[in-house]
This record gives sequence, C-alpha cells and structure tokens, in this order.
Amino acid sequence: MDLEYPKIIQGGMGVAISNWNLAKAVSKLGQLGVVSGVALEVLLVRRLQDGDVGGHMRRALENFPFREMAERAVDRYYIPGGKAVDKPYAAIPMHRQVASKRLHELCILGNFAEVFLAREGHDRPVGINYLEKIQMPHLASAYGAMLAGAAYVIMGAGIPTMIPGVLDGLSNHEPVSYNLNVAGAQQGDDTLARFDPKGFMEGDHPPLDRPMFLPIVASNVLATTMLRRSNGKVDGFVIEGPTAGGHNAPPRGELKTNEGGEPIYGERDVVDLGKIRKLGLPFWVAGGAASAEKLREVLEAGGNGIQVGTAFALCNDSGMSDKYRTGLLQEAVAGTARVITDRLASPTGFPFKVAQLEGSLSEEDVYLSRTRVCDLGYLREAYRKDDGSLGYRCASEPAETYLPKGGNESDTVGRKCICNSLVANAGYPQIQKGGAVEKPLLTSGDDLAEIARFIPDGQTSYTARDVINKLLGSEA
Ligand SMILES: Cc1cc2nc3c(=O)[nH]c(=O)nc-3n(C[C@H](O)[C@H](O)[C@H](O)COP(=O)(O)O)c2cc1C
Repeated sequence: MDLEYPKIIQGGMGVAISNWNLAKAVSKLGQLGVVSGVALEVLLVRRLQDGDVGGHMRRALENFPFREMAERAVDRYYIPGGKAVDKPYAAIPMHRQVASKRLHELCILGNFAEVFLAREGHDRPVGINYLEKIQMPHLASAYGAMLAGAAYVIMGAGIPTMIPGVLDGLSNHEPVSYNLNVAGAQQGDDTLARFDPKGFMEGDHPPLDRPMFLPIVASNVLATTMLRRSNGKVDGFVIEGPTAGGHNAPPRGELKTNEGGEPIYGERDVVDLGKIRKLGLPFWVAGGAASAEKLREVLEAGGNGIQVGTAFALCNDSGMSDKYRTGLLQEAVAGTARVITDRLASPTGFPFKVAQLEGSLSEEDVYLSRTRVCDLGYLREAYRKDDGSLGYRCASEPAETYLPKGGNESDTVGRKCICNSLVANAGYPQIQKGGAVEKPLLTSGDDLAEIARFIPDGQTSYTARDVINKLLGSEA
C-alpha cells in the first residue's frame, strides 16, 4: 500500500464527540478523521429510538453485509418518529466476559455504522479510537469497524499489547481472544473474552483490510514496551501529554498535587521525541499541540504530525450537544473557561480533565443530587469472586452494591458516572427512575482557554475546516 500519512489526526473523543459527522468532515479535508469507538452500540440503539433523524443509522445498516443481523436491530429498536421525550431509552445488556449474542451483534453493527457513515461519499481513510481500559467490547467492536473498512485503530488508556494480533485474526475472520484484567485473578482462572466472527457471518466474506494500529502512549518506556511485548505489528505512535482532553496518564513517580488536588506533572513526564524517533515508526504528538508552530516543531523532530482533540471538540462539526459546546465556547471567549484535572472523577482511577460548566456534574451540588446508578457499565472492573467466577463492579455505582463486591469505600468518594454523563454530553441522556435526566460532564484539554483563536473574525463559532486551515497555515 502506498502510504500517505496525515499531518493532522483528529483525536478520537468519546462518547460520540468525534462522531461520524466530525470524522467525515476532517477526512474529506485531507487529514485523518477518527470516530470514537466507545459505546457505539448504545448510540446505535438510542439513535434508532430517537426516530433515526436523517435516516443515517438505517442507511448504514442497509449497507451491512449480514442482512438478518441488521434487520433484527432495526426491528427491535427503531421507533418511527422517535420515543416520547419523557420515556427512558430501552436498555441493552452490560458487557461481561461472555457477552450475549445480541450485545455482540449491536457492537458489530454500531461500529460498522459509525465507520461506514464517516467514510461515505469520499475515498479518504478514517480511523477509530478505543480505550484499552474498556476491554470487554473490544473484539466485536473492532470486527464491526473492520467490516466497514476502518484504516486505523488508535488506542489509549492502557497497554494494548494484545490488539495487533486481534486485528490480524479478525482480518481473516478467525476466532480471537483478549485477556481481561481481573482483580484478584489466580493462576489457571479463565480470564479470556472470546469472539468468533464465524458465529455472526451470514455466508462467506472476503478477508478484511487490517487497519494500522497506533497506540497512544505517554512515555518512552511505554512505547518501547509496546514494541517488545505486542503480539503483532505496531504501526506508529501517538505521544500524548498531560494537557490533553479526556483521560490522562498519571504523573510518573510519587504523586504530588497542587492546592486544588490536581496532579502535578514534571520533567519525568516529558517524552523524549529523539528516542521515539529512533524506534523508527511514524509518530504524532498530542496534548496542546494545536498550532502551526507545534506542527512544524514535530515535523522537524522527525515526527509525522499532531493529534488534536479540544479544537475539534468545540467546532460546529463535533458531536457535542450544541448547548454545551456553545456554553464552553462562550466561557472561552469571555476568558472564564476552566479545566480541572480531576483525580477522582473517573472510576478508572486515571486523572480525567473536567471542563467546568454550570448545570453539569462539574458542580458539586449537581453531582451530589444525582442518585447513583450503574446501567451502562463500560468502566466496570472485573473481579474474581470466591467461587472463581467473575463479578463486575464500578466505583461510581451505589456504595451499597459496590462494597459487597469487595470494593473499598474510599474508592467511591468523588467518583462520577462518566458513562451516563458522556452519553448525555452527546445529546442522548437516559431518563432514570423517577424521571431524573442524566446530566453532562464535559471533558476538554487545557487548550479550551485559548480556543477562541479558531473563531474567524465577525463570527461566534468555527468549523473543522477553520481548525485545519489554521494548523496547516493554508487553505485546506
Ligand atoms: C472531549 C474529549 C474527549 C476525548 N475522549 C477520548 C477518548 O475517548 N479516547 C482517547 O484516546 N482520547 C480521548 N481524548 C483525547 C483526544 O483524542 C486527543 O488526544 C487530545 O484531546 C489531544 O489534546 P488537545 O485536547 O490538547 O488537542 C478526548 C479529548 C477530548 C477533548
């Protein structure tokens, strides 16, 4: 394949911030558009229940190769005209080591639809982003994305050494497995998630292109580990620093915090790009890298370009709900935008960047007024039960269900339901028992404070094209 690497990767931003619409816009402008691969099965069924505005989901599914599977999903979830606004969305099962066939099907279909739509109407490559920590959906999700022709799989928040081999296997429709992190696991325990494409194919299908695999790393050690320990080919790296939006790697060494409780990053957290270059693979730098100067600097250091998140998250093409996007933009323009690196919010234990916004879970009273419920479960941790079977727990679930599962009370403090709030950010909030509507919790990089630089004179917002023009210093 004749490789032409992008200078700009539009970072994967979950949930549905980098939706198919944003990724398509960026890819059509000649850079790499990336869809978020997180919770696409939830988005598929919620979009169908909202009446499939624009007909996009059904159009994508009409192009899905295995017809019966696609029809089952439409028959079950599509509501012509949309569900009543005060009715909750129908739930789907939560992921477990052994997922139901229906859940696997929805994963395949949701990932297929997002990549299909991002690729529709042009021939530029499109990538998909996953978080390693969210392990249980990986296999079916990657298969769906590959059926739609995803050209890149980009993965952060963990050490995804097993993904390259998975992509190799899936490209030949072979059975694949993924070793889950299980707290308290003992030698001999079965901790594998398994997926066999043959159980889902309806007839033969030609081999699939194997996407390029770019792990997101925050240190030289991790980049080297990925090369030494991966079970297949790593095709390059995204090197992400601690000012990036979303989850951040914790600081290296002993934890030091500022007076606001935010982790302090130091010299040890700076990646040596010279050493990365010596690894001989392409790389892109992420985290406060959205400027023509930074792009030039990275190119001079031997890199291929930059990965940009926040600037795209706040543009008109993004999947962030308009009211939250304009709210954050107004704060930025007014010079009052604030982003906090919250060590507690995410049940993953990773620091998570939280943009402060009125009415969102960034406000203590809004957070405290929410009744804890765990009904999406993406960040649940698998643990070994006494009988050797696996249980699942999340530090953001109600303490009364978390503690009997062996969870520590101290781990529940300050934890937020990132699953429900991130789905709410994109405009698909669940309505819980008693009618409470799930509230948003916005994430953004530190770059939010300076984001108004992308707004053209005389306007109040900007597009993906404005971002790319500014970064390339040219007309895209
Ligand atoms: C709203 C938002 C959501 C994000 N979600 C993810 C995610 O799901 N997975 C991921 O690997 N990175 C995620 N990121 C990080 C971006 O992909 C990107 O690497 C980062 O934003 C780059 O730094 P910048 O924000 O300074 O441009 C997210 C960033 C933002 C702003």
